[in-house]
Amino acid sequence: MGAPSYDVIVIGGGPGGYVGAIRAAQLGMRVACVEKRDTLGGTCLNVGCIPSKALLQSSHHFDDAKNHFADHGIQTGTLKVDVAKMMARKNEVIASNTKGIDFLFKKNKVDRIHGHARLLGGGKVHVDLAAGGERTLEAPAIVLATGSFSAPLAGLEVDEKTVLSSTGALELDRIPETMIVIGAGVIGLELGSVWSRLGTRVQVIEYLDHVLPPLDGEIRTAMQKSLAAQGIEFHLGRSVVRSERTAKGVRVFATPSAGGEEQAFEAQTVLVAIGRRPVTADLGLEAAGVALNARGFVQVDETLATTAKGVYAIGDVIGGMMLAHKAEEEGVALMERLAGQAGHVDYATIPSVVYTTPEAASVGQTEEQLKADGVDYLVGKFPFAANGRAKANGFTDGFVKVLANRRTGRVLGCHIIGPQAGDLIMEAVTAMVYGGSIQDIAYTCHPHPQLAEAVKEAALAAEKRALHI
Ligand code: NAI
Repeated sequence: MGAPSYDVIVIGGGPGGYVGAIRAAQLGMRVACVEKRDTLGGTCLNVGCIPSKALLQSSHHFDDAKNHFADHGIQTGTLKVDVAKMMARKNEVIASNTKGIDFLFKKNKVDRIHGHARLLGGGKVHVDLAAGGERTLEAPAIVLATGSFSAPLAGLEVDEKTVLSSTGALELDRIPETMIVIGAGVIGLELGSVWSRLGTRVQVIEYLDHVLPPLDGEIRTAMQKSLAAQGIEFHLGRSVVRSERTAKGVRVFATPSAGGEEQAFEAQTVLVAIGRRPVTADLGLEAAGVALNARGFVQVDETLATTAKGVYAIGDVIGGMMLAHKAEEEGVALMERLAGQAGHVDYATIPSVVYTTPEAASVGQTEEQLKADGVDYLVGKFPFAANGRAKANGFTDGFVKVLANRRTGRVLGCHIIGPQAGDLIMEAVTAMVYGGSIQDIAYTCHPHPQLAEAVKEAALAAEKRALHI
């Protein structure tokens, strides 16, 4: 008997892989998705986006009860955190999401294969089955969607107890007294926020002289100020160079990035959040002729085809914005192209969100990029402090910033820090996808009283005619 044959085999069941598999099945293809984890959903659902949001929500409630309920006239007694219960709830959230994908696979008739896949070349994939034994599968199209893992820091071995990656920081069984976060990127600030809100003294050490490297400068500055006001300590412009274990935890040594004297920091726990690396090992890539680029990511062309015939790659393993929703878009576009349709990813309008309080959300170009490119632009800003709903809600931190082409009014970027920034950004994303202008936003009727009015007012402010400032 020959190898079971499919139209497409997807390796990896994260947001890129599972969404791509579902889309392929919708388009009438016979699809197998090989995943080595016990549950589908990849990093995002199991140890990333979803569990971090569950803990951010729990710790946000605690912070609200501790610091803000009294403003609303609500009295509470002594507050206590039951970490075990908080983690159990987070695990239930994960389980309900991952089981949801099992359901979707069954509904769409995607064959889920539990095991570790390796390319054999010639359209064949070898799978070491998790239950024991092996299988060989065959398809004219194979999609690598193997994702990424936490970048290690030399000399600081992650044990997920004292030295944590994001995975361990989502599973602590008690609130540490102190935590050093290495890296002021998205993971460092989100998970640093979780533990800081629950009472941990959090010190962030960052190589650059600002937090959240890719974001607009004004958003970065405002974010650092807000988080510092909440108690997170920032040590910027410092690079962690070495570390040692102590009886109580870890001591890390950092030097000023510009050179200078070493400084020691001590804590019970350390979270290493210095970026992520593509999962490319033990996949048979070399033998199959799949080349990596200079940064170690799988090399693809504009159709997401690798250097091996019939092998494609999507998501974190090819780099770019390492975001679940970017991977999903690539999965859908690729399958549509394989089905003969015109699949397309609009990389210029992919939003990104940081789920701290306040949230930060961004789409398109930053003001720094527009300046560097010599674009003649308009900028419109509107603070939540002047938004009626934000005042009623009791959360007025932050602002909306809209950037547009001065001549045409076309929206070139939008950057928001404030309440529900991640939801509000979608108005700017939609405007940009349709080639919309600040006038389109300004002349769209917004419901009152809503936070979204701040987006409209920012668009008006770009032409110096905001109504409420
Ligand atoms: P990141 O790339 O966002 O930030 C890492 C930070 O570590 C950088 O600011 C870098 O300058 C700093 N750094 C590197 N080496 C250092 C050293 N030796 N000492 C001090 N600082 C050092 O990476 P992060 O936060 O680990 O996130 C990884 C990926 O996961 C990102 O691509 C991010 O987009 C994605 N992610 C997205 C989320 C979201 O969309 N809400 C949530 C969590 C992760």
